[in-house]
Amino acid sequence: MGLKILTEHIDKPGIETFEVYRKHGGYTAVEKALKKMAPDEVVEEVKKSGVRGRGGAGFPMGMKWSFLAKPEGVPRYLVCNGDESEPGTFKDHFLMKTIPHLLIEGMIVSSYALGAHKSFIYVRGELMYVIRILEKAIAEAKAAGFLGKNILGTGYDLELVVQPGGGAYICGEETALLESLEGKRGNPRNKPPFPAVKGLYESPTVVNNVESIANTPWIVNNGGDAYAAIGIGRSTGTKLISASGNVKNPGVYEIVLGVPVEEFIYSDEYLGGIRDGHYLKAVVAGGSSVPILPAHLILKTANGENRLMSYESLSDGGFATGTMLGSGGFIVMDETVSVVRNTWNFSRFYHHESCGQCSPCREGTGWMEKVLERIVHGHGNERDIDLLVDVAKRIEGNTICPLGDAAAWPVGSAIRHFRDEFEWYVRHPEEATKKGAVYMPQNVLV
Ligand SMILES: Cc1cc2nc3c(=O)[nH]c(=O)nc-3n(C[C@H](O)[C@H](O)[C@H](O)COP(=O)(O)O)c2cc1C
Repeated sequence: MGLKILTEHIDKPGIETFEVYRKHGGYTAVEKALKKMAPDEVVEEVKKSGVRGRGGAGFPMGMKWSFLAKPEGVPRYLVCNGDESEPGTFKDHFLMKTIPHLLIEGMIVSSYALGAHKSFIYVRGELMYVIRILEKAIAEAKAAGFLGKNILGTGYDLELVVQPGGGAYICGEETALLESLEGKRGNPRNKPPFPAVKGLYESPTVVNNVESIANTPWIVNNGGDAYAAIGIGRSTGTKLISASGNVKNPGVYEIVLGVPVEEFIYSDEYLGGIRDGHYLKAVVAGGSSVPILPAHLILKTANGENRLMSYESLSDGGFATGTMLGSGGFIVMDETVSVVRNTWNFSRFYHHESCGQCSPCREGTGWMEKVLERIVHGHGNERDIDLLVDVAKRIEGNTICPLGDAAAWPVGSAIRHFRDEFEWYVRHPEEATKKGAVYMPQNVLV
């Protein structure tokens, strides 16, 4: 079994309570940081760790923290992004409900490092039961003196607020999240100014993902160098992967970054392989937004090297032959899955979730859904395939926030790698739309 940073104690009965969490070494990072370290020293350790944001973009966390403006007399905020609405990603949900004190401990040390005295955890609105779990954990931590005024007698004050999300995928985009937190409609803001300069209530703000923040207690306890020694290259540490689809053992896994994709899919320690009697056809490796790859390209790069579960290896080859680690939503498809129908399904989601501010995304996502819908129902023609590629290209890079890219990439990549399947739909609509019909791309199955 690989090293576990976040999930080592996840199976301990009662780990959701303060008492059991504390018994397993919980809150020692708060004691160490607040009593023995200056805030900048905590920032320095996080920088040294090389940990990259786990929300999708993979931006180095310590670097983001060092950009935080510190004007005199202006409050600073830490906002934890627990909106997690990306199809295929469910690791933050898992972490918050099973070991809530880990996030709370991370929020305390991170808030201390950033000089924040009021911090927020923004949780996907549908997860009311998780919000209650977090609120209970906050009350326990407060009763034990780890939150509130004069924490552990150090003079440091911190109030932690849990905010239910607005119920839209776009509210996970950090500036839309801030708008929503301020009580407004969750529309992304134009950048600059970035949140580090003008964020929540126009004050300097850091927005970090749940998993990113949950790494900080370990980094404080063990040091940034120890964290940086785990993983591979610039992909340091471990990563939670939400695995779903046609595998034997779907679920949330904590992997050391650098595990070969093949081992992750086929070894019994992880996904246990494709369900019996079926073959690997395609993988969406990082949540619905990242490019889909056919079996041969997810297992090996275009140069024939083993593909690894790391930021660099998954993106090797750019979008021509690679993809992204994204938020770690690993969706595995066997040969019974129609890539065309799946792309239509994703496009329905992005059209529904587009906030409508930018015309390319508002109009383009609607067009992509409409064209895919007619292809799936046997009314498409050959020109529709190129039309989809064209619309996707016109959205990409032309919107305020990356939701436009997130909508375009699944469509562009599906056609890039599975064009023959799209052609089958438009050339043999009667066959393709028969109940249970599947296209058999012999050359890409593994
Ligand atoms: C449409 C959209 C939805 C997003 N949803 C989430 C989300 O649910 N959780 C998250 O952490 N990041 C999400 N992000 C990324 C955030 O904007 C931001 O990069 C992230 O919260 C920063 O945290 P990190 O640096 O720790 O990864 C989303 C981005 C976009 C464009």
